[in-house]
Parts: sequence; C-alpha cells; structure tokens
Amino acid sequence: MRTETPPTIRLADYQRSDHLIDRVDLDIRLDPHASRVTAVLALRPNPEGVPGAPLVLDGDELKLVAVALDGEVMLENAYTATPSGLTIHRPPQRPFTLSIETEIDPTANTKLMGLYRSSGVYCTQCEADGFRRITYFLDRPDILSIYTTRIEASREEAPVLLGNGNPVESGDVPDTDRHYAIWQDPHPKPAYLFAVVGGRLGSVSGRFTTSEGRQVGLGVYVEPGKEARADYALDAVARSMKWDEDVFGRAYDLDVFNVVAVSDFNMGAMENKGLNIFNDKYVLASPETATDADYANIEAIIAHEYFHNWSGNRVTCRDWFQLCLKEGLTVFRDQEFSSDMRSRAVHRISEVRTLRARQFPEDAGPLAHPVRPKQYAEINNFYTATVYEKGAEIVRMLKTLIGEESFRKGMDRYFADNDGTAATVEDFLSAFATETGRDLSHFAQWYERPGTPRIAVSGHYDAAAKTYRLDFRQTRPGAGADAPPLVIPVALGLVGEHGPLDAKSERVRGGVFVLDKPKDSLVFENVASQPVPSLFRDFSAPVRVEIGLSDAERLTLLRHDPDAFNRWESAQRVALRIVIEAARSGAQQLDGAEGFADALAAFLDQEALNDPAFAALMLALPTEGEVASEIGANIDPDAILSARRRLRQAIAARLCEPLFALRETLAEPAGAPFSPDAASAGRRAFRNAALDLIAVADPERGTALARAQIADATTMTDRLAGLATLSQIPGEPREIELAAFAERYADEPLILDKWLAIQAAIAEDGTLARIGRLQQHPAFSITNPNRVRSLVGVFSLSNATQFNRADGAGYALVAETVMALDRRNPQIAARLLTAFGSWRQLEPARRAAAEAALRGIAAAEGLSRDVADIAGRSLQ
Ligand code: ARG
Ligand code: ZN
Repeated sequence: MRTETPPTIRLADYQRSDHLIDRVDLDIRLDPHASRVTAVLALRPNPEGVPGAPLVLDGDELKLVAVALDGEVMLENAYTATPSGLTIHRPPQRPFTLSIETEIDPTANTKLMGLYRSSGVYCTQCEADGFRRITYFLDRPDILSIYTTRIEASREEAPVLLGNGNPVESGDVPDTDRHYAIWQDPHPKPAYLFAVVGGRLGSVSGRFTTSEGRQVGLGVYVEPGKEARADYALDAVARSMKWDEDVFGRAYDLDVFNVVAVSDFNMGAMENKGLNIFNDKYVLASPETATDADYANIEAIIAHEYFHNWSGNRVTCRDWFQLCLKEGLTVFRDQEFSSDMRSRAVHRISEVRTLRARQFPEDAGPLAHPVRPKQYAEINNFYTATVYEKGAEIVRMLKTLIGEESFRKGMDRYFADNDGTAATVEDFLSAFATETGRDLSHFAQWYERPGTPRIAVSGHYDAAAKTYRLDFRQTRPGAGADAPPLVIPVALGLVGEHGPLDAKSERVRGGVFVLDKPKDSLVFENVASQPVPSLFRDFSAPVRVEIGLSDAERLTLLRHDPDAFNRWESAQRVALRIVIEAARSGAQQLDGAEGFADALAAFLDQEALNDPAFAALMLALPTEGEVASEIGANIDPDAILSARRRLRQAIAARLCEPLFALRETLAEPAGAPFSPDAASAGRRAFRNAALDLIAVADPERGTALARAQIADATTMTDRLAGLATLSQIPGEPREIELAAFAERYADEPLILDKWLAIQAAIAEDGTLARIGRLQQHPAFSITNPNRVRSLVGVFSLSNATQFNRADGAGYALVAETVMALDRRNPQIAARLLTAFGSWRQLEPARRAAAEAALRGIAAAEGLSRDVADIAGRSLQ
C-alpha cells in the first residue's frame, strides 16, 4: 500500500470548540515503561459552540486505562476510545468533570514528542500537538486552562521534579521509595505549553526582582557535573528579563523561571510556561567547549524562549495558522535584544545572511508558503524560515513604517487587549491600526503572499535641473500581473564621490520611501552631481533588488555609505557579480577581481582595527548557496564552487600580507582573560577569517599557522577555526589533526558535533566515503537529532557540490538517512528531506537525479505524514 495523501487542514475551516476546559488536574506517575497519567478535566459546553455536540478529544498512540464522568465509571457504549481519540457521545450540557487514565512508555518514545526520556531524564515536548500523546485532550491552542500538576517518581531515578508555574508542595510517598511535587500554574494556557521534567540534574540558580517587585527564583538544570557550563545561560535569562521590562514594558509573572537542558531534542528550545526546555547545545557553554557562535546562539535562544512568555504565552495563537503571530514577533524581539547586547550592524548582517541562506530559497521553491499558511497537512513542517525569519521581517517593516514610538504603543495595546486570550494576525495588526489611525489592510498582504518580491529600480540624473529620479517597479515571481502590490518600506539615501549627499525628496520621510504601487517614482532635488543610490538601507524589506549599478558605483557605496549594512551589501554584490559571471563563462581571468580586492584592501587599512567584527563580515564572500539562489535556474554547483574559489584566490593573494600583519596586531595578549562579548568575539572572527584567506593564498603557511593555533588555542572558537581552515587543505596534517581532535574530545558529544560538521562540509570527492565511515564512528548516532543534523544535515545544506554530485550519490545518502529515520523520528526525517527543496533549479542531469531520489521516497510504503507531506509538496 502506498502512503495516502495526508488530509488537509484549512484556515478557512476554523471553528470554535464546542467545549471548553477550565481546569486540568494532572497526576503523573513517572515510570520508565509504564508511566500513568490521570487527568481530571473540568469541562463545560462552549456558550458559542454547537449545543449537545459530542466531545471529541485528541489522542496519539495512547492507551486508555479508565474513564469516568463526574466520578462515575463510564459505560462502554457511552464513549469510543482508540489510540488517536476519545469521543464522549452525549456529554452533559452543563459543567462536568472527566477523569481519564492513560498509560505511556516514555522509553519507547523515539519521536521526542509527548513524554519521553533523554539520557534517562523524563521530559516533554508538546508543541505543536504532543500533549495528546500524554492524555486525551482538546489539543488546540485556543483551549486555555488552569493547570495543577502532581508529579511522582522514584527518588533515586528522579530527585528533581519540575512543572509549569509555581511549586506548591512536595514530599515523600509513604512506605515507598517514591516522592512527589505539586506545581500550580495560575495563568490560563493552551496544552502545547505544558511541561514536566523529572530526573537526576545539576543546577545553578539566581534571583531576579521584577519591575513590579516580584522576587523570581531562576534555575538552569543540566547534566550533573556540567553546572559550570550553565552560568552563561543563567546570566542571559536575567539580562532577557531586564531587557523585556526596559524595551517592551513586560515583566515576568511567576515566582520561578526554570530552564532545563536535554540532549535529545527535535528543535532548538521550547517556551513552556515557567519551564523552558532546551536542546543542551543552546545552554551549555564554557570557553574551552563553546565557540563565540555558540555563546551568541545561547543568548539569542534563551531570550527568544523567555520573550515568548508574553508573545506566545500570555497572548497565544488561536490556531496553528497564526504561528507567525508568536514566532515572527518573538524572533523580531530576540533580534532586537541581540542587537542591543552586541553590535547592531553586525547583527543585522547576520540576520540577513540567515534569511537569504534559508528563507529566500524556501520561498523560491515548491515548499514556498505564505508567512501565514492557508492550509497544512502536518503543522510541524511549518516551523520554517518563512514563518520565523520572514515573519520577523514583517514586524520590522511595520516598525519602520509607523515609527518607533507608535510601534511601542501598538505593542502595549496588543498585549493589553489580548492578554489571556488566543489571538490572530488580525488582532495584532488591529492594535497598530487603532493606535496610529492607519489602515493596515494593504500591509497585511505580506502575511498572505508567498515569494520574494523583486524590486527593479533605475536612476536618472538630470544635470541641468540638478534632480535625480528613481523609478521603482515591484513584481513577485509566480504571481500574476494583476496580483496586488505589497507595501514596501524603502529606506534610502544618495551617496556621492566624496560622501553622503544631503538631497531631499518630499516623498521620503525619515529616510523612508513607501512603495505601495506596482510602479512608482520619486525625485530628489538639489543634487549637485551624479549620485549613487543607497537603497533598502539596513535591509528595510525582505526583497531582491535589481539595479544596474556598476562595480565602481558599488565601491563608492562601500567607501562612503553611512549605512553599514549597505557598505557590506555593496561588497557582496560586487562579489556576486564576479562569481556569477565566472561561473557562467568558466573563464580563468576574473573580470573586476583586482579592483574589488584593492577596495577590500583599502577598507581593511582604514577599518579593520576599529571594527574587526564588521571587517570579518566584509571578508566573507557570498556562500555557494547564495550564489545559486541568485542565479536561480540551471544551476551547476561545480561551476559555482570553482568560480568562487577563483575569486577567493585572487582576494587572498592581494590581501595575504596585510591580513597577516593585522592578525598579529589583533592577537590577544598572552594570559588575557576570556570574554564572550561582541568585541572579543569580533577580534577572534577577524583573525580567523584572515587565517582562512592566508591558507588560500599559501596552503603551506596556512597549514603551519592552523596547526599552531590548534595546539595553542585557549578558546574553542580558535581551536575549531584552526581545524576548519585545515579541513580545506587535503593532506596528512588534516587527517592527523582531525584524529587528535576526536581523541581529545571523545567524551564531549557537542564538540564532536562540530567535528562531524567540519568533515561533512569538505567539498571533495572523498567526503561521501568519509561520511560513511563517520556514520560508524562512536561519536555518531542516528537516534540523536544533533548528531544527525551535524553530519547529514550539514552535508545536505553546506556541501553543495557533494550533495548535488552528478552521479546522484549525495542524494542517495540523504534519502537513505531520511528513510532510516522516518519510523523513529518523522519530524527530523522530514526536516532533513527539505534539503531537496531547490531541486527544480538545478541543471537537467542533477535535476533528474534529485527528482528520482524524491520519487523513490514518495513511493515508499508506510511513510509518516511528516515525510509524505514534504515529499509530496516538493514534487508538486
Ligand atoms: N516554539 C518553539 C520555538 O520557540 C519551537 C517548538 C517547535 N516544536 C515542534 N515540534 N514543532 O521556536
Ligand atoms: Zn519561538
């Protein structure tokens, strides 16, 4: 039997629940194989629902032990129970209680949804629909209830017992080796925010006094022995709490806030009320074990999950179509937090790189969907770059359009008007519309239309009139000619030979022109000489811009644009032009490479010491993926790799000596204490970018420098960077250092993940065989999502030439892993399969090979809904 097409759920079909659940009393008796859950649900008919409707509770792989209504055991013909649902045929048309006892096997739960065990620790993941794997329930985000949870476990097995809300009672169960804890959460919440944890855990703790005077106990729980690696996360919690008070006026609302790190986790982390559960990769950090990127990620994700306490928890989502309401908004909030903690310009560039690397390709392929999808078969496949990152860009554009002050007022109104409710995107926008008196219905189109808009711009200088006109035209690929235009904030200015020009246009307010028609023009007055337009400053809209600027004009922006983002962008654009032309022509001689390298040299000379973090980004050429996404059709990854390598050679040859000198100047003095702050991290980033280019110019010298750095490094950032540089240089030193690294960190799975990832990304023919060997290595395990992502995920996303091998062997490797994983963990399998999302843009031979691999999966029997959905949509 072939897998059936999964049923489709549509936004247009939303209906209120016919029943409400006011209170949930849970008694969870943890046991490795037979955990018992008793749920007492205080139900009542929804006054706005259908009177007398049957009560249909969701379930997923559940085993019912007993069910009682108002304390009376129910007659068997009064209900129907299957593993995937419990229906009460004629529920009372008045408030009543339903007591449900279920039994679950957390050890056998390999999907990591519902209640499961990670290295022996009991934990839960309920978003999006995992609560129904714990008990039968109205498992939908618009059912908000007050929860009380009693957790019981063997004292030996689980000395720590955590739940949502505040701890109210704990003690021993008389005459047993067991104990219990009772947690009460006063805030109504949907089931997806429910969590419990039980296990042997170490912890660090702190205190925070909120602006409202509430004393909050903070705790970060980790594997015993790793407490010292939890300090940074704990500090990030306190900084997040303070920032949300200062910037959004949002104070925390419980007496405790706990974070628990587990080693088996499908995603990054989860914002369960008062009890955030994290992938340990985003909690554990010490100078010896974590890179600067790890520190930055921990800070950002701790903040993200904490910020959900308001944007997601206090105001939640009516249905899963509104996912961007909490995710896009919360990503925007965590981006702002990181920008305030670090360098705003550097952070903005990294946000845009992520968007272009993940979201643009998604939006250009068969998996494209609106930021608010209109339909889905499997909601877990919609935790995407589009919902998260493009969703955040929409919030940012809104702020740009209405201004900082109105934005804050609108946010206050949104929180005030929707507190304790399950809201929609319309509710969000209406808070800002009310506050500003503006009609935002046109802006709302951003949530409805997939595809990255293209903005074609041309500039016309009239020397006699001293005016400069810009003509704009917007289109969206795949959209018909009559498709409504979007509202696009264009932050812009003009730059001249010697610096920014102070020309005015009446259509530009606060540096922003609003393009809301298919075509529009604006005119600047008093323009003394031919200017260069600086458009979409700070990346003011998630669009692609087509403007015929010459390299010379771009390099003028690189030198003089007051907007740091566009200085960086100008360099990226020149590099893209050179690489794309070289990939098309195959020519050895790169047209314009010298001028570009000279401009970079001049830039370094002036700025590298002032802002090394920014300089490091200037040295980073667009990735192969970005080049491919820019080309868009008939892609030959080998031609891209080779063209990009040639440009890197040319730049490295020109910059090698100055980089060597700068690297010395920026060296940390011996014995300097470690700091993960942005300035120190920026110096490390620059030194390591320099090392990489030196190794390109002179592999022998690079090898020696990299080996010395690996040996002497006092931070994981530097040691790993040495190894990464060396990984690009085939030969014995590389293999020796890789082996030594594995031995040194044999007991550190998170560090070996980095080691796996470096090897998966090597763009050489031998990588396939290497991955085959690594799959057998003790460091790898198909059961752990982090290991799979580091090896196979990185291979598919960051090794374009090997994944897209002409012989199809790269596709086969990923397809085999997808199939091997599907039965055990469909979410991870489906996520891995999205790597095929750009297959239609490949040149014909690779396109055929990728399609064959996809069809092979789609035709397999007994596929999960997750994988069937991705395979089916990819082939559409
Ligand atoms: N809400 C989590 C976050 O903060 C993501 C959880 C998604 N989990 C899932 N199984 N789909 O982004
Ligand atoms: Zn989130």
